[in-house]
Amino acid sequence: MLKSDFLIIGSGIAGLTYGLDVCKYGKVTILCKDEPGEGNTTYAQGGIAAVTSCNDSIESHVNDTLTAGAGLCDKTVVQTVIEESGSAINFLLDLGVNFDLTKNSGKDKKQDFSQNFSLGKEGGHSERRILHAGDQTGREIQNALLKKVRAEKNITIVPMRMAIDLIINSNNECLGVYCLNLNTNEAETYGAKITYLATGGLGKVYLYTSNPDVATGDGIAIAKRAGALIKDMEFIQFHPTCLYSPVAKNFLITEAIRGEGAILKTVSGARFMDGYHPLKELAPRDIVARAIDHQLKISGEDYVLLDITDKSEEYLKERFPNIFKVLMNLGINISKDGIPVVPAAHYSCGGVAVDKYGLTSIKNLYAGGEVSRTGLHGANRLASNSLLEAVVYARISAAHSLEKIESIKAPDALPEWDHLDTDNSYEQVLVTHSWDEVRRTMWNLVGIVRNTKRLESAHRRLLFIKEEINQYYWKYRITKDLLELRNIIDTSLEIVEAALLRKESVGLHYLESDIKK
Ligand code: FAD
Ligand code: SIN
Repeated sequence: MLKSDFLIIGSGIAGLTYGLDVCKYGKVTILCKDEPGEGNTTYAQGGIAAVTSCNDSIESHVNDTLTAGAGLCDKTVVQTVIEESGSAINFLLDLGVNFDLTKNSGKDKKQDFSQNFSLGKEGGHSERRILHAGDQTGREIQNALLKKVRAEKNITIVPMRMAIDLIINSNNECLGVYCLNLNTNEAETYGAKITYLATGGLGKVYLYTSNPDVATGDGIAIAKRAGALIKDMEFIQFHPTCLYSPVAKNFLITEAIRGEGAILKTVSGARFMDGYHPLKELAPRDIVARAIDHQLKISGEDYVLLDITDKSEEYLKERFPNIFKVLMNLGINISKDGIPVVPAAHYSCGGVAVDKYGLTSIKNLYAGGEVSRTGLHGANRLASNSLLEAVVYARISAAHSLEKIESIKAPDALPEWDHLDTDNSYEQVLVTHSWDEVRRTMWNLVGIVRNTKRLESAHRRLLFIKEEINQYYWKYRITKDLLELRNIIDTSLEIVEAALLRKESVGLHYLESDIKK
């Protein structure tokens, strides 16, 4: 068994921020199932929402968050997170994160926020308040965090380790985790006084997603199997504008581009958002996604077009350099051509329920970042609030952990992983087929617009696949594919069961009237 004071599962913005704050006390181990930079954080484009301008106010950001959340946000949590937004930005600046500045910005960024940052606008925000680094804000933050973490002698990052299941004792205390070493395919045991779950998103449970491959909802599934409380899983956010392309996989076109004036059109050139919401293209994300979905159903076309051709090539290259380059390589010059886009699964507002300190319902287990449900987002997340939430809550959890750590006893010897005497799989096709079936079921039956009949049908199918895979799981040697499949099934079931319980349309959970029996 490998022992530490703090065990962190996940190396995105939440896990790394927490690690940096607790490493002053003791030994920190960070597990991640791929290379340390691979996760949703790296792909974040638009930026991080924070109150930094003198034209803006905490109250305005709070109100926008509550409006997006459709009455289901926890108001105290919203107030706390937004009030802490300035200090979260200072934390990132101290790490060396370079947010874009206005042309006439002064030298001391902290002295006068308002004069310095070039602020973007996104749907649902009544002010310009999105700090960004071009259109690769996440990569800039992830790199700065990793650089700092790698310089800390108390922190060890262990890549290619996939958490399988948490180790919980009879007192409902978390003692660590079993994980699969993806280099050797052997199971390993990690014990710790405190475990911080920061495994990120779940986009891969859907056939089409903006998320990278690691986002298979592992943390939700692992926490659920350990008996943790999970909440709000029906609220899955679909991003309206992911690139439609036969070759490029999971490429997002940031909402910030609509903030700079891009309009949505059908393939034949008709602008359509006017008919759906007074804010048109800058309506809240769920409304824009549903409008596109509706247009595609009416027209039978495969995509709509996002048009920013009224801006110059020079401007677009400077403001959206990565999008410009990637699309140019695909033969699309965004200063001249419309961008083919479709909605795709993007963000989970629900997750492992945590209290005001980020503690889950299991002792000594915290959760942070996208895997957690703090109450900030309610029924719908306001754009660019998640990077902010991840930093603020990771720091709150770290402070709380440091208060508690002295009173927690290190776990004694833990039982080794016991997976019976299993054979190597000879029917991998069952795993690949089930992967596809789960993701299609979720996309077709539990998507942007739902009804009870489709949800019930999805539930029956998922239970059947779960039963089949459970038998397979205990019979054959575990692999990453098999573990992820088990997780996407468990996470999908959480989504469907939560959706079935919510009988009214609210926020991201949108029910059309049930079709006649
Ligand atoms: P992640 O950054 O996803 O990190 C998760 C970590 O957990 C990874 O290291 C992964 O390897 C590890 N992991 C997963 N499963 C396991 C396992 N079983 N065992 C071990 N390790 C595991 N939000 C904003 O606020 N602003 C934006 O502009 C924005 N743009 C976005 C654009 C895209 C394309 C996407 C996908 C998301 C965007 N978001 C944005 C959302 C935001 O990026 C995420 O919510 C946030 O980065 C999540 O951070 P995290 O630390 O929780 O998880
Ligand atoms: C985007 O850049 O459109 C994504 C922003 C977010 O998900 O918060």
